[in-house]
Amino acid sequence: MNIRKVVIPVAGWGTRSLPASKNIPKEMLPVYNKPVVQYVVEEAMRAGVEDVIFVTNRDKSVIEDHFDYNLQLESVLERAGKREMLEQVRHVAEMVNIMAVRQKKQLGLGHAVLCARELVGNDPFAVMVGDDLMFGDDAGLQELVRVSKERSMPVIGVMEVPADRINRYGIVTGEEISPGVYSITEMVEKPAVGTTSSRLAIVGRYVLTPDIFEHLSRVKPGHGGEIQLTDALAALARERGMLAVKMGGLRFDAGDWVDYLSANVYLGLLDPGLRDGLRARLRAMLG
Ligand code: UTP
Repeated sequence: MNIRKVVIPVAGWGTRSLPASKNIPKEMLPVYNKPVVQYVVEEAMRAGVEDVIFVTNRDKSVIEDHFDYNLQLESVLERAGKREMLEQVRHVAEMVNIMAVRQKKQLGLGHAVLCARELVGNDPFAVMVGDDLMFGDDAGLQELVRVSKERSMPVIGVMEVPADRINRYGIVTGEEISPGVYSITEMVEKPAVGTTSSRLAIVGRYVLTPDIFEHLSRVKPGHGGEIQLTDALAALARERGMLAVKMGGLRFDAGDWVDYLSANVYLGLLDPGLRDGLRARLRAMLG
């Protein structure tokens, strides 16, 4: 399977991130020195994706703007001789092709993906949740793209979570067919703690085939009254089979404050210019 397009849903209300997200999309909140969604797009690029389809709403056009030129800013930087900054700002506009489609009602992640149907067309494609961050060498969407190419099957990313947190995720049960690769037998969205022994949680990375859209158009509102992507995935898995890949690297949910703050510290500690100062402050704060 050749994956050239990725759908990145960014149309949610971001209520967990309020009040920060009242007028700034949570996907645009900075983590270290970039907005959340830029890391997601950079990860897509590393996986070889060329076209990004944002599923947005009326208040989120600033996300598309971030990946466009800002000629006024560029000329200010040019005149000030700030070459390096100019290159960085331009680079963001030149990373990928950007398309956008509106989700007019926030009916859930599955519905957001369905909104991209026309723009995706008939090829396999990727989905990346716009507030899910993955860091680490060779980690991220590319892991799934590799397996989907080898096996010509839809692949979703999973990570192990503690047993008392399974009710926050879609949980997958499967048979391990090679190290870290599972053939999925069952999938359930946010099961109650203790109702399944699996701890493989779906994280926001998927490589899908276009027949998912048929299933999405048929699924009824599920958990939380939303059109759940997991319900359509379960139907697709039953119909044609699906793999889950245990992903490497570190994951941060930018919509969760502990994860959001941790991601900032993690990236700050990787910056040689900040590391020592940041360490000293953290040490002092931790007493
Ligand atoms: P979340 O459930 O984390 O986002 O969805 P949310 O609904 O915006 O956040 P909270 O729970 O109220 O804080 C994961 C991703 O899916 C998008 C969101 O923008 C986020 O990037 N999403 C969610 C949509 O595009 N449409 C939806 O209807 C729901």
